[in-house]
Amino acid sequence: SSHPAVVTVTGAAGHIGYAALFRIAAGAMLGHERPVHLRLLELPHAVSAAAGTAMELDDGAFEQLLSVDIYDDPRAAFDGTDFALLIGSRPRSKGMERADLLQANAAIFAEQGAILNDVAAEDLRVIVVGNPANTNAAIASAHAPDIPAERFTALTRLDHNRAIAQLAHRAGCVAREISRVTVWGNHSPTQYPDIFHARVAGRSGAELATDRTWLEDDFIPTVAKRGTAIIETRGASSAASAASATIDHVHDWVLGTPADDWTSAALPSPGVYGVPEGLVCSFPVRAVAGRWEIVEGLDINDFSRARIDASVAELAGEIAAVGDLLPA
Ligand code: NAI
Repeated sequence: SSHPAVVTVTGAAGHIGYAALFRIAAGAMLGHERPVHLRLLELPHAVSAAAGTAMELDDGAFEQLLSVDIYDDPRAAFDGTDFALLIGSRPRSKGMERADLLQANAAIFAEQGAILNDVAAEDLRVIVVGNPANTNAAIASAHAPDIPAERFTALTRLDHNRAIAQLAHRAGCVAREISRVTVWGNHSPTQYPDIFHARVAGRSGAELATDRTWLEDDFIPTVAKRGTAIIETRGASSAASAASATIDHVHDWVLGTPADDWTSAALPSPGVYGVPEGLVCSFPVRAVAGRWEIVEGLDINDFSRARIDASVAELAGEIAAVGDLLPA
């Protein structure tokens, strides 16, 4: 549809926000026909930086950009919003335990979920990028009882895209020749990039997977630890690739996945593939008429089962660690 979209980006002055906003304004996310109102939400200390970004957005003279507004109040920023890109989160500081990080973020996402429940548009779609993304999405959803749980998603598209890139290098082909890759589980090093159902330039992923040394010692850890490798090499965490994956996720959610292919996204489990109901877990998904559908009925071999189970166990542990922030 071409009615104007209201898009709220949290953490708008951060690295990912800066990389995402210009492409959203240029139509890469919702198509070149759809006008966009951009809302930039930041913490008070970063509002000025967001205002500077808004000046640059102006200067892009983007054809479909109707407005850019800056907020430090989430209630105003989310009022009537159609798309909430929840990128801003509390980073891990020195000496902070993982449990403290989970708690600090759970509090932010509980509040944002409750506000979205009150003020967002009827057709709201949420993508959580800020880590721990899966659990943050579960918390936000738990605090938004009037919004269908399936509207709360978390980003594993970056992991999915990383898997495609590694396969393309392995097979000497380009990304468009690769389909049906799946990332299962958590956006964390326990994630499992599954190639057993993939098609890679006319070959089957299962055939590539017969080289178990490559699969276990090269492909899987390269994909799962890519974030750390980027930090070590670039001296900063992945930002443009994360922004690009966020745009891919929303683009496909609204405009559809290519026929004969699927992608990966973290959604609240309806209890399929042995994933307990409600855990926000990455699955193979297709978007049909603006809704994600989990691709069901894939055969899961023992190799895959063990890895999926390990990542799901980690997700269950994260939820247990923030249990007191889940409504009873
Ligand atoms: P950054 O630190 O450059 O920017 C984050 C921004 O969020 C800051 O400007 C900060 O002021 C703002 N912010 C913090 N709390 C906020 C709140 N409650 N409301 C509004 N704004 C708030 O970080 P960067 O590089 O942009 O990354 C953002 C997040 O994305 C991090 O949590 C990072 O771990 C995560 N990430 C997730 C990926 C994924 O695949 N799911 C990939 C890469 C990063």
